[in-house]
Amino acid sequence: MKELSLHILDIVQNAITAGASLVEIGIDEDLQSDTMTIVVKDNGKGMTAEVLEKVCDPYYTSRTTRRVGLGIPLLKQNAEQTGGRLQLESEPGKGTLLEAVFGHQHIDRPALGDMPGVVAMLCGANPDMDFVYRHRAGEGYYCFDTREVKEALEGLPISEAGVIRFIREMIRENLDVLNQ
Ligand SMILES: Nc1ncnc2c1ncn2[C@@H]1O[C@H](COP(=O)(O)OP(=O)(O)OP(=O)(O)O)[C@@H](O)[C@H]1O
Ligand SMILES: [Mg+2]
Repeated sequence: MKELSLHILDIVQNAITAGASLVEIGIDEDLQSDTMTIVVKDNGKGMTAEVLEKVCDPYYTSRTTRRVGLGIPLLKQNAEQTGGRLQLESEPGKGTLLEAVFGHQHIDRPALGDMPGVVAMLCGANPDMDFVYRHRAGEGYYCFDTREVKEALEGLPISEAGVIRFIREMIRENLDVLNQ
């Protein structure tokens, strides 16, 4: 089963392809409602209603394309297998918002995986873009924002190997605190 962080990487990849300059990733672990909600919001070129309709339908997508077009349908299927759902909102010229809800304790929920690694890699590979990663778990909350990091770097490139390592470790330490 694919880790959720890799699904998120797929979704962010769509946003990058769509020309986004800002991608906001949100993870909300709500033990009260037993849900894990993943939100990915971008300011890319968006989708027409027609494309949006096709993208949401796994059968349509998998039948009309051979290899491509499985990113969103697969995530949707995984979410629904845990009693959750996937929703997409998009408007041409405005951007796209994807929300996937998983049953948190459901046996079929994939593990979250390596979010620090995924976020650090995205930052390093796309130094001109901005990324926000918000993670809520119960009472705990952590927010990472490349706009703040870039300001603190005072001109040092975010794509520098040492900076990427630092970002990964910083996120990792903060998530560790969140999960205590
Ligand atoms: N954030 C987005 N902004 C604009 N268009 C999007 C976005 N996400 C998806 N799309 C559109 O939906 C289509 C399907 O996305 P999906 O991730 O399911 O497949 P894909 O990216 O085409 O292929 P794959 O992910 O399997 O390599 C994309 O080709 C693109 O046209
Ligand atoms: Mg894709």
